[in-house]
Amino acid sequence: MSPQALEQILEGRRSQPNQLIEVLQDIQKNDGYISPESMKAVSQGLGVPLIEVYRVASFYKAFRLKPSGKNVLTMCMGTACHVRGARFLHDQATGQLRVKPGEVTSDGLFSVEHVNCLGACALGPIVAENGSYHHHMTPAKLRKLIETLSRQQTEEKQSVQTQ
Ligand code: FES
Repeated sequence: MSPQALEQILEGRRSQPNQLIEVLQDIQKNDGYISPESMKAVSQGLGVPLIEVYRVASFYKAFRLKPSGKNVLTMCMGTACHVRGARFLHDQATGQLRVKPGEVTSDGLFSVEHVNCLGACALGPIVAENGSYHHHMTPAKLRKLIETLSRQQTEEKQSVQTQ
């Protein structure tokens, strides 16, 4: 994150430890994750010990401590989705993309994450793609979704190269 962007986020919040979660949310919105450098700056800016910033950032699953892929596939592994085959979706995504949960594919296009509930249990199993929910997901539908996203990225890349 640029020092200017961080300055904007901290503006009006300096020395206000109670702003920690809001500041971390804004940093993640801006960068897609919270880097060690950002944590140090937040610690200094809000007057919160660095260990506390790290504790909060690592406690909440909503915060990422590593950069994510361009497309984030969030697999719900909660009970309602689990009994409807979430494990097969997990295997489809990780096998097709050759990536483990929490990792990014070598081309930087995908990352796979797990959550315990996306709040739409009746429609499970659910997979969220960059925040958009896909309900009643099946391994075949997920394979097609990944193929479509991959093809779109390739076309975008080719379009930029020919301009
Ligand atoms: S368990 Fe999957 S949405 Fe609730």
